Amino acid sequence: MRASIRMLSYTHSSTTMYDIINYVDCTHEQNLEILNLRNLDDVRKWMVNPEIIPEEGHFKFVESLKGNPDRLYFAIYKDGLLIGTYNLTKEENGVWERGIIANPTNQGKGETAKWERQILADLPNHSINAVTAKVKQNNPRSIRYHEKLGYQEQSRDNEYVYYILRL
Ligand SMILES: CC(C)(COP(=O)(O)OP(=O)(O)OC[C@H]1O[C@@H](n2cnc3c(N)ncnc32)[C@H](O)[C@@H]1OP(=O)(O)O)[C@@H](O)C(=O)NCCC(=O)NCCS
Repeated sequence: MRASIRMLSYTHSSTTMYDIINYVDCTHEQNLEILNLRNLDDVRKWMVNPEIIPEEGHFKFVESLKGNPDRLYFAIYKDGLLIGTYNLTKEENGVWERGIIANPTNQGKGETAKWERQILADLPNHSINAVTAKVKQNNPRSIRYHEKLGYQEQSRDNEYVYYILRL
């Protein structure tokens, strides 16, 4: 693995089977695939911003990520197939907020936990010591998922449960 967190980019090796590629390093076609996944009805409805993101907006967003070390967006590929996305936004004191999407074709197989655990295990090497997540209260699958991974509830309001996972 390379030193920079921007390149939290594993390649196929004997120890890993996932390619974790920063959006800024993805091809145009890969970014269209990422956008398509993000815009699926059953994905976007769980996002903080549930609106459809237009193509132009996505590519502007990817441009904005260049040179911004505090916002890291990754596509997760396995055998050339996009199986999910993972993003980290710096908060403070080594705590980063993370977001996650599993491709519906790959949900419910226990695989999402596998690749997220692999990423989490590496984060302390990049001085990331805790990750937070906010999950819509009406998203029981995601709540179950976070609890399975050991995320601890910190608080909740009318809409969200706020979690932290110390690494
Ligand atoms: C949330 C998400 C990342 C989890 O990935 P996944 O591959 O579906 O997760 P898993 O199948 O490993 O785990 C989900 C757990 O919820 C359970 N579950 C599924 N549907 C459920 C429901 N309606 N109510 C309660 N639990 C449910 C599953 O049984 C499983 O628990 P188990 O392993 O103890 O059996 C994925 O579903 C996803 O991307 N969803 C759409 C986008 C999203 O919600 N992102 C998170 C925003 S905070």
